[in-house]
Amino acid sequence: MNRKIILSEQDMPRAWYNIQADLPNPLPPPLNPATGEPITPDMLTPIFPMNLIEQEVSAERWIDIPDEVVEKLLMWRPTPLYRAYALEKFLKTPAHIYFKNEGVSPPGSHKPNTAIPQAYYNKVFGTKRLTTETGAGQWGSALAFACNQFGLELKVYMVRVSFNQKPYRKIMMETWGAKCVPSPSPDTNAGRKYLEGNENHPGSLGIAISEAIEDAVTTENSKYSLGSVLNHVMMHQTIIGLEAQKQLAMAGEYPDVVIGCAGGGSNFAGVSFPFVRDKIHGKEVKIIASEPVSCPTMTKGPYVYDFGDAAQTTPLLPMYSIGHDFVPAPIHAGGLRYHGMAPLVSRLVMDRLIEARAYSQLETFAAGLTFARTEGFIPAPETNHAIACVIDEAKKAKEEGKEKVILMNWSGHGIIDLASYDAYLSGKLEDYALPDEEIAKLVKELEKYPKPV
Ligand SMILES: Cc1ncc(COP(=O)(O)O)c(C=O)c1O
Repeated sequence: MNRKIILSEQDMPRAWYNIQADLPNPLPPPLNPATGEPITPDMLTPIFPMNLIEQEVSAERWIDIPDEVVEKLLMWRPTPLYRAYALEKFLKTPAHIYFKNEGVSPPGSHKPNTAIPQAYYNKVFGTKRLTTETGAGQWGSALAFACNQFGLELKVYMVRVSFNQKPYRKIMMETWGAKCVPSPSPDTNAGRKYLEGNENHPGSLGIAISEAIEDAVTTENSKYSLGSVLNHVMMHQTIIGLEAQKQLAMAGEYPDVVIGCAGGGSNFAGVSFPFVRDKIHGKEVKIIASEPVSCPTMTKGPYVYDFGDAAQTTPLLPMYSIGHDFVPAPIHAGGLRYHGMAPLVSRLVMDRLIEARAYSQLETFAAGLTFARTEGFIPAPETNHAIACVIDEAKKAKEEGKEKVILMNWSGHGIIDLASYDAYLSGKLEDYALPDEEIAKLVKELEKYPKPV
């Protein structure tokens, strides 16, 4: 009985998988909101370096990982794949449950899989300083770690409600040499607008993105970096699923179900896209993205063109969205409170290659506790959404009496989120579902933009 399946450093993939090469229907282009015309790569140059823009629009199936990036990824990769025997036993399920432990990276999540290449490509391009936003703080700390590795400066705009809930994330960012401020902040026009009349505005990822972009385009030698949503970010994360494919093959298994939680879509894309490729080529595999009922982007939102940020500074992106004005309830899974969803993930939902489910906060914490009390590791609140879905699928396998193989991405640990476990254990956490009327109001304004086809 092998509890974990370990790859050697030589077996870490040396190329990322770009699903754009295999899509049955191509991605609708991002649009210029002023003209309604597709934007051209050069329009993105004030925000991103050209080498990353090239990856964003590339249709090459495989993109080599540069040696300097490989060297850094080897600090914690390949990550172990675990067979969750204790969880299976507890659930009395015939299912074989596997989880890919992305919590072993220095910042504790999957986020450095893209932070390291983004810092590297910026460094090569000549960028001296990066700006970014962060929700729960996982992305901000991952980019702080990566910028430190490549000698770049970093300023992080952290959604205020998380800034207050998770002080240790800020300390991590500062330990790696970054600056972290609560958003909305007085440092940008976008931030000042939201602070007027409410100096304790809870913030949102959409607002923090606006602040970080404004800062990048108005400061010399600065670029902006995004931890999810964009095509190149999804691609950098595919190293998770590519490793998992090798590890499952070592165990003589192939998944019936692949599950990941989804905020902007990156860890879900990372674990699932190599399997979506198999599915496009005829394999049978169910692929599920799990999101919160308080931010039900894919399960309740329409497929529309929307802005990536609250101040409407980004191009219009084709995606499932509940509207860029969405200000989320202060649930603890801060990384899942984004109003939109990666265009690539959205397209695959539209094409029925993947499906989405929504779980309530209390259900996800109950699942996280079950996991911690069986497998030992304490999951991040975001990850608990994937676990809730795994438990559902494992119960279904039991009802059907089937020995299904379930693969989950365990996107991060929750050691810095213990305040949320404390709130749950002391009965202070509540459920909140976003009402349909609220969503209808938020997306009404988007009717004036073209519909993606
Ligand atoms: C541990 C963890 N899982 C999941 C997410 C959601 O992001 P994404 O959907 O891009 O993977 C986050 C975001 O901060 C996170 O910190």
